[in-house]
Amino acid sequence: MKTLMAANWKMYKNKEEASATLADLALRLTALPQNREVVVFAPFTALSACSSALADNSHIALGGQNCYPAAEGAFTGEISPTMLLNCGCAWVLAGHSERRSLIGETDVFVGKKTAYALNAGLNVVLCIGETSGERDSGKLTDVLVRQLEAGLADISTDIAAERIALAYEPVWAIGTGRVAGPTEIAESHAVVRNFLKKRLPRQSQDIRILYGGSVKPENTKEIMTLDNVNGVLVGGASLQAESFSRIVLA
Ligand code: 13P
Repeated sequence: MKTLMAANWKMYKNKEEASATLADLALRLTALPQNREVVVFAPFTALSACSSALADNSHIALGGQNCYPAAEGAFTGEISPTMLLNCGCAWVLAGHSERRSLIGETDVFVGKKTAYALNAGLNVVLCIGETSGERDSGKLTDVLVRQLEAGLADISTDIAAERIALAYEPVWAIGTGRVAGPTEIAESHAVVRNFLKKRLPRQSQDIRILYGGSVKPENTKEIMTLDNVNGVLVGGASLQAESFSRIVLA
């Protein structure tokens, strides 16, 4: 299994900034180890420029941060998986906590997107994670299982393991500088792995589970050694090629 090192640029970077960062990143990752896969989730408006910047660099993949579960239609402001493919994307994020909390995306809607995007030919990183209140009130497992059940409800049991990844991102660790501890990460990733064993038994050991939340070059190596951690999803520290390349190569 290749570890999946993913950058989520959120709502940062215009197309010039994005393509310059990506070109810089590609140079820093020319000697990417065989066991690492890299994907950058750039803003929609920068995707085509990023795709051009990467033209000869097959070792970095592009992703969109969201999509709508339809081929086309009267869905003002939305983007279809086909449109993402057309801009050079191989991946899409689904269910990021910022979309769940700020835009009001439900577990069921996230599941519809996940299945639709996979069927349309995109690979998906499905994000899950609890708030501090949910954790403090002992609901960690319930929340993760609820998000997993709905998020994976409609996907084919024949799905290739490398086409879907789960990202565990505790909401209280995102952008706060407060990285989850080794026990907390290992506990939550075990919940995800156990769920996968029941839902997708054949693929369960090969589906990658990423950790996200205040990942930095300094803490990546330790996080990557934990049980059931098969990659990272990085926000703030992915915005500079210098720091993200150190994370990828950690
Ligand atoms: P930070 O790395 O900035 O905490 O963000 C994590 C995240 O939300 C990645 O999707």
